[in-house]
Amino acid sequence: MVSLEVAPCSMDAAVDALRRGELVGLPTETVYGLAADATQDDAVAKVFAAKGRPQLNPLIAHVASAEAAAELVAWPPEADRLAATHWPGPLTLVLPRRAHCPVSLLASAGLDTLAVRVPRHPVALALLSAFGRPVVAPSANRSGRISPTSASDVIAELGAAVAVVLDGGLCDVGVESTVIGLLGGPPVLLRPGGVTREVVEAVVGPLAAPNVADTLRPHSPGLSDSHYAPALPVRLNATRPQGREALLAFGDADPSGFARTLWLAAPGDGHDVVTAAARLFRLLRAADALDVERIAVSPLPDKGLGEALNDRLRRAAAER
Ligand code: TXA
Ligand code: MG
Repeated sequence: MVSLEVAPCSMDAAVDALRRGELVGLPTETVYGLAADATQDDAVAKVFAAKGRPQLNPLIAHVASAEAAAELVAWPPEADRLAATHWPGPLTLVLPRRAHCPVSLLASAGLDTLAVRVPRHPVALALLSAFGRPVVAPSANRSGRISPTSASDVIAELGAAVAVVLDGGLCDVGVESTVIGLLGGPPVLLRPGGVTREVVEAVVGPLAAPNVADTLRPHSPGLSDSHYAPALPVRLNATRPQGREALLAFGDADPSGFARTLWLAAPGDGHDVVTAAARLFRLLRAADALDVERIAVSPLPDKGLGEALNDRLRRAAAER
């Protein structure tokens, strides 16, 4: 692995890099993004190439305000209500592109929709304001691997591809944004994430599941099986060890017999899924570096942020 030092890079250097069509490692409250100028086809193409991402998986356009988002996509009342309650924050809205939307069609991956989000991390907001144009930013990991939650993770994953990494510290939410489709009909939960289903439903009513016709397209990692995958195999709902395993422990888990234990949230943390989310990807990376056969994970509740945690873990454990 590369050894890493994260130089504190100025905002100006990051803005210049984006203007030149280069890639920037961008801290957000969810995970670090691999940012590029969304209006330059070549820059957007570089994002797909650097990640090894399938061209059919669309990207999120990040902007500094709801007003800026509404210039890119159709803006129904539900979008207004969700933006008013959750932006800036870990929520992404998928809406029909406007006719003269300046975002590269590559970002939409052949769909007539675009995902938009206003992140709340102060470094992300500062960059978006200074740059003044939409920025695509998928999670800054190689496609299918664990999402990065620190600047050094970004350098380890994609150091050769980025011109600048802005160091904004550890991501406090720790799982990606919730993705909601607003395409006529009931709002659709395309990916559970940092804003819980319960909280979104309080604003726009019950969320539908993606329909079968939609699932024929790989429009969300939610529908491609293996993702967020460490090198080691992952075993879910583990209560007793099976061989030499590292345990990602939660709540009142009994760690006896496991080779190593990393606590997602200990009893003293109040069985807290919020704490567990903030630590999940960091501890998966840490466990992956241990001398064990497998990573075992305690059962996690499915309520609140638990829905997103279990979603990521199911895919970390999925057959490759
Ligand atoms: O928290 C986040 O959302 C992070 C930070 C960096 O903002 N970004 C992120 O991007 O997770 P990415 O590319 O790893 O995931 C974007 C998700 C994928 O599930 C993608 O399929 C879905 O959003 N998506 C993007 N555009 C879409 C569209 N037009 N229709 C349906 N799904 C879309
Ligand atoms: Mg991702």
